Amino acid sequence: MPPSTASTTPSQANRLTSPANAAAGSAPAPASAPTRAPATVPGAAARLGFCTLEQQLSAEELELRGALPKWLSGSLLRTGPAKFELGEQHMRHWFDGLAMLHRFSISDGEVSYGNRFLESRSYRASREQGEMIYGEFATDPCRSLFKRVQTLFSGGGVLTDNANVNVTKLGERFIAMTETPLPVQFDPRTLKAAGVRPYEAPGQLSTAHPHADRTSGAMLNYAAKLGSRSSYRFFEVPAHSPAGRPAATRVISSLPVREPAYMHSFGLTERWLVLAEFPLVVNPLALALSRRPYIENYRWKPDLETRFTLVDRATGQALQGFRTDACFAFHHVNAYEHADEVIVDICTYPDAGIVEDLYLERLRAGKPISSATLTRFRLRPAERSVTRERLADSDIELPRINYRRCNERPYRYVWGNGVGPSGWLERIVKIDTHDGATATWSQPGSYPGEPVFVARPEAEREDDGVLLSVVLDAAAGASMLLVLDAADLSELARAQVPHHIPFSFHGQFMRTA
Ligand code: CO
Repeated sequence: MPPSTASTTPSQANRLTSPANAAAGSAPAPASAPTRAPATVPGAAARLGFCTLEQQLSAEELELRGALPKWLSGSLLRTGPAKFELGEQHMRHWFDGLAMLHRFSISDGEVSYGNRFLESRSYRASREQGEMIYGEFATDPCRSLFKRVQTLFSGGGVLTDNANVNVTKLGERFIAMTETPLPVQFDPRTLKAAGVRPYEAPGQLSTAHPHADRTSGAMLNYAAKLGSRSSYRFFEVPAHSPAGRPAATRVISSLPVREPAYMHSFGLTERWLVLAEFPLVVNPLALALSRRPYIENYRWKPDLETRFTLVDRATGQALQGFRTDACFAFHHVNAYEHADEVIVDICTYPDAGIVEDLYLERLRAGKPISSATLTRFRLRPAERSVTRERLADSDIELPRINYRRCNERPYRYVWGNGVGPSGWLERIVKIDTHDGATATWSQPGSYPGEPVFVARPEAEREDDGVLLSVVLDAAAGASMLLVLDAADLSELARAQVPHHIPFSFHGQFMRTA
């Protein structure tokens, strides 16, 4: 284990920030720039992570350095964008790329790997016709106005199912998800898509960050139903449903809304579903009539502030009227009830500029992205009041917790990625929410993805386990699976992949039964 790669001093990275950002902030590389970044633009070294991967393979055994814990057995399943061009058309945003599934299977101290494009309806149509057929987050294939309106108000039939955001397990079914109502079921061994849609969310927009009901195993999620009268709908999908048929969803609560907010996730406590509405909002009719890509119809309206709603999981009744200063976020970290407060932790940005930051042209030019702050909101239902505080000096995105043990409950640790000197996510961080103490892993020229926590069986401590992160080594032009001790971020092992893996969003570790 190279000890030099682990560091517990975040200041080491901070010291390097200024000159790197200054360089990255200089003139952007032209779109035709060569793939290899000039040394004067540090952030551009990460650009390989935004390049298409066509290769699909199945590797029996990856070259392994270090030793894996004997108890670690199962598969890390991830999804992410992997193809950014279709014929003449180029995807414009990181969120647009065609989804690829990745599987790292660990058993008997060895790691096998497989990857495969997710055979969604969108993927198959694009491949067959050699061009983009369904609109994505920030790229749209110029459909007619009629089709556009039809898309929005006639249900999910013409929405993309390019599920490049997250994977989850519902009962015995493995599911890839994006932010439309159309998840895609797949086989966790072969990564081939299964034919049947597992369920369809009751709206046109949804999240790829569902929660699980501890008791029933049901999926809890939210959808926005757009129309002349729009609404937010929290809904539940049962863990088990008749084979070969989509599961029936049950709407828990329906909340009228005039201009729905862009929301990427939500919170859950033992009693409440927690909705945080950031003031990046859309007029549904304007969205239907617009010729702009989906996200470019949203408007930043800070006067609306950030508004919280608590929905009682048992009754569906809503408590509204919690307001605080405008901010933006993708990811809730955790939420729980404590005395007369509801604690809601979120990775926040001062505004929605991060959405702009993630356009591929900017990323490939090495422009630095905004960094997120771990923010604690304290909601007091009796007074309908909200206060907020920053929990750590370090920034953090793609947050993970010891979900099985701590979701909905008081917790202490959050793991995630921090922005490094290059202006891109370059560190793995662990934050102690009690005192803000931060541990960091980094390695020059390496870009780690979301660290997925896996608890050691029989563990007593909350942070007793490992982190699994797919890391791009830009100099080597290839990625690896990095395994860290979750307690101190020391390296346990790394398994080398024979090619690069484009930066991906989320994944889950599925234990071997
Ligand atoms: Co996400």
